[in-house]
Amino acid sequence: MVYEATATAPVNIACIKYWGKRDTKLILPTNSSLSVTLDQDHLRSTTTSRADASFEDGDRLWLNGKEESIKEGGRLWTCIKELRGWRKAEEDKNAELPKLAALNLRIASYNNFPTAAGLASSASGLAALVASLAGLYELPQSPSELSRIARQGSGSACRSLFGGFVAWREGKEADGSDSLAEEVASREHWPEMQALICVVSDAKKGTSSTAGMQHTVETSPLLQERLRVVPKRMDDISAAIKARDFDAFARLTMADSNQFHAVCLDTAPPIFYLNDVSRAIIGLVEELNRAHLAKTGHLLAAYTFDAGPNAVIYAPEANMPTIVAAVNRFFPQAEAFPDPFKVGTAAALPEGFSE
Ligand code: DP6
Repeated sequence: MVYEATATAPVNIACIKYWGKRDTKLILPTNSSLSVTLDQDHLRSTTTSRADASFEDGDRLWLNGKEESIKEGGRLWTCIKELRGWRKAEEDKNAELPKLAALNLRIASYNNFPTAAGLASSASGLAALVASLAGLYELPQSPSELSRIARQGSGSACRSLFGGFVAWREGKEADGSDSLAEEVASREHWPEMQALICVVSDAKKGTSSTAGMQHTVETSPLLQERLRVVPKRMDDISAAIKARDFDAFARLTMADSNQFHAVCLDTAPPIFYLNDVSRAIIGLVEELNRAHLAKTGHLLAAYTFDAGPNAVIYAPEANMPTIVAAVNRFFPQAEAFPDPFKVGTAAALPEGFSE
């Protein structure tokens, strides 16, 4: 008997950024964060997990068809250990459950978007991994409970277990039991909100988020100011989302992106994620906003940048044609972007997955 489960999880892009850990082992953040889940079909990770008595030599995992090692004590290992421990506890409570916790695992994960596109694939990847193992082990899971485990794989992954607008509450407990994600509003609450992703560079980033944020915690005096202002920003952006107030949402999103990049610059040595094209996109959106504000009294769009040069532009659907036309006019594309649907599917399980 082969036990198998497949789950998918989407990418999320933060409006109030997570940047800094107070506990690097448990992945507990220095501040709460809030993101929008990009729940289209073409920005997802899909993970299939299988348990079988014939699997030898421990657990194995493939990412986009390439085998990755599961290092003892590492993040993947921790997520698997947590979920297996939970399954074991369920088996101890109910003798009729098949003894899956004792079996080795084969896990295959695919992103259906180019990994090199500079989008945070760790968030969707870890969320899909946790959801698929939770499915395989038939755990009585709530998304918040699973977010506690996904968080230990990659902080931002905890937010990808929800759709819509999602907060990751930093929590107060030393064991991380209250550092969880929760939905602030569903996708249906504000369906007009859209995101345009501008791939400025598909090169791998120079400084990883994990390393970069710890350098910031260790060296940036400006981070203290950021930690002082974020709690109010979290309240304000939640209120803006609940009221579907795009102007307030946009102001907070842009201010937080700019402050995040300011603390990167305040890190010693400084971390530069934005490049000249990123800054030109900021200039364009600011200019479009100035003109739109003068004409209508409202903002047109909000930019945000993660740990790389690529822009995500949030806007109500009605504003998107103006934004796309402006981006195409000032930043003509050098080459067509690869078709995301042709990049990889979960249907092709790697060799060695089934032995
Ligand atoms: C800039 O979640 O990738 O995208 O917890 O070390 O895996 P680790 O970091 P990660 O950091 C994401 C940083 C960010 C902001 C955000 O998504 O909130």
